[in-house]
Amino acid sequence: MTRTPAEFDRWYADRVESPVADELVRRVLGLPPDLQSTSLLTGAGLDQVVAALGLRAGQVLLDLACGRGGYGLEIARRTGCRVVGLDFSRVAIDHAQLRAQTLGLADRAGFRVGELTRTGLGPASVDAVLVVDSIQFAEPTLDALLECRRVLRPGGRVVVTCWEAADAGDERVSPRLRQLDLRRQLPRAGFVDVEVTDEPAWHLAEQTLWQEALAVDAGEDPAVRSMQEEARRVLATFDRMRRVLARASHP
Ligand SMILES: C[S@@+](CC[C@H](N)C(=O)[O-])C[C@H]1O[C@@H](n2cnc3c(N)ncnc32)[C@H](O)[C@@H]1O
Repeated sequence: MTRTPAEFDRWYADRVESPVADELVRRVLGLPPDLQSTSLLTGAGLDQVVAALGLRAGQVLLDLACGRGGYGLEIARRTGCRVVGLDFSRVAIDHAQLRAQTLGLADRAGFRVGELTRTGLGPASVDAVLVVDSIQFAEPTLDALLECRRVLRPGGRVVVTCWEAADAGDERVSPRLRQLDLRRQLPRAGFVDVEVTDEPAWHLAEQTLWQEALAVDAGEDPAVRSMQEEARRVLATFDRMRRVLARASHP
């Protein structure tokens, strides 16, 4: 997985040119037809996330590290909330903005470039925060969680989807995932009512996606080639990771 904004810009530019990659992800993860995901959250997982966020019409959701904005826009459409999407990839943000217009949601959605640990939003300015499959990129994790708490109003909800190591001492698992332990980190960031669950059905869907990606003839498609590289890397340590859904409240 890439890390700098420039690397993610390239990754998104390739992805936008590849209907094959998007179609594969959408089909295997069971996503709505016009949701553009660059993560591994399934359609059923999104239903759980929406329930956990508890948003009402007119409330504000921060979709942090939103990528092309797919999940935040879908949640805005379902709940009537407003969405602020933030990501450090300018290419992703430009696509998210276009997507909001295409879906007729531009009046309730705004996207901007920003950092997981420094959103530039005001204190207590949002009702809920969602971080889909991205918290592992924050340096350090705790600063991103503290930023989530800072921008949330009292009683607001944070929902994080990610992976954690089955054994934090297992050096075969990526260091980014080994340092995640949301059951401990969310209370340390000041959150209450912390609930972290394993989601084996999401993990199984992810495994199917990587296996199907490897079976595709990638040809010259850089997005599919990139998926295949990631598939090989992830499948090599697949059973050493747990797929996790975390939710908590601002006190
Ligand atoms: C796996 S993608 C997930 C994107 C989106 N949440 C989704 O589910 O489709 C990870 C995202 O994190 C963003 N990202 C990585 N490090 C970041 C950082 N330090 N600050 C802001 N965004 C970051 C990347 O640009 C990328 O869009």
